[in-house]
Amino acid sequence: MKVLVCGGAGYIGSHTCVTLLERGYDVLIFDSLVNSSELTVERISTLGGAKARFVRGDIRDRDALDAVMSVGIDAVFHFAGLKTVGESYENPLTYFENNIAGTITLLQAMQAAGVKKLVFSSSATVYGDPERMPIAEDAALRVKNPYGRTKLVMEQLIGELCDADPAFSAILLRYFNPAGAHPSGHLGEDPGGTPSNLVPYVAQVAAGLHDHLSIFGHDYPTHDGTGVRDYIHVMDLADAHVKALGIMDHGGCMAMNLGTGRGYSVLDVVEAFEHASGRPVPYQFVERRAGDVAEAWADPSLAERTLGWRARFGLPRMCEDAWRWQSAHPYGYR
Ligand code: NAD
Ligand code: WQD
Repeated sequence: MKVLVCGGAGYIGSHTCVTLLERGYDVLIFDSLVNSSELTVERISTLGGAKARFVRGDIRDRDALDAVMSVGIDAVFHFAGLKTVGESYENPLTYFENNIAGTITLLQAMQAAGVKKLVFSSSATVYGDPERMPIAEDAALRVKNPYGRTKLVMEQLIGELCDADPAFSAILLRYFNPAGAHPSGHLGEDPGGTPSNLVPYVAQVAAGLHDHLSIFGHDYPTHDGTGVRDYIHVMDLADAHVKALGIMDHGGCMAMNLGTGRGYSVLDVVEAFEHASGRPVPYQFVERRAGDVAEAWADPSLAERTLGWRARFGLPRMCEDAWRWQSAHPYGYR
């Protein structure tokens, strides 16, 4: 089976490509490298034990997409997009154009080539500030930032395409907080500068690249006052994507949470990382970050029932793997 992986050189896409190759899929990566490196592609092939093909291109470029689709694609994974919340406030139009216009072009190219299976990278960000925990897929959708808006609009566009074409099957995977790295230490998250997400920032503090972590708020109504999230190992996400491909004949559009079902606070993460790395992670409390919610964790039971998937790795393992990657690659792929 031939799978086109848009955004396959990025953090989650690269780990998914390794798992796809290990399970015998033929992988074609399509990525503009705007936020990733071609080095990843070599490593994917080495770790996956088979060669992944790579085409550098942008999902907004219809001709480039038509060319890759012409080799005969059975299904598309769509990871390609911009994902930084702060940046999306500064440049909302860039986010709408790259993420939404890019997705429309990709869907048009799929339609023209008769490709009817899509696994889409969505996010728990679509739930905004949820009323109750854990968050199930039928919770209200109310986004809080331009990045989240792009995810919600893309989900809706894909849903309407499925309504219009009953032979089109899509799975919208709503990731909670991806963390960790490939157990080899050769593949991981490269935020390209100062990370805005917690785990890569903590990893850089442990590696000595920053003096301390700023913890955004310690007066939330949580067990220790710091924000609580559902961290999910990137290898568990990769496994869920490949399992999703296995049920793609359903027709229609299905949204599914990918999380562990368990929440950890910022201080829990700091403690787990100190333990995994053997290094101190000094921190200071600062003001809450605008737009943050107090807590968010998944009800992952739909994925369990539908895909037979369950997260295998907990926070200690995420920290161990993130540290193996960070200590071997202090500056990412650069
Ligand atoms: P990433 O930035 O590492 O990977 C995204 C990849 O897409 C990069 O390789 C980038 O070069 C590529 N890309 C971006 N715009 C493109 C375009 N127009 N054409 C072709 N390639 C393009 O991010 P990631 O963490 O691997 O995230 C993958 C997907 O999952 C994204 O859609 C993101 O929004 C979503 N997601 C990520 C998280 C997270 O915290 N990492 C959480 C929820 C959802
Ligand atoms: C986690 C916790 C922070 C950094 C974001 C996006 C979401 C999704 C995942 C893409 C929070 C605290 C963080 C720091 C801190 N991405 N924190 N100091 O905000 O849950 O989700 O990434 O779809 O859309 O919004 O993740 O890792 O930024 O924060 O105290 O330097 O760590 O306040 O409580 P978040 P995060």
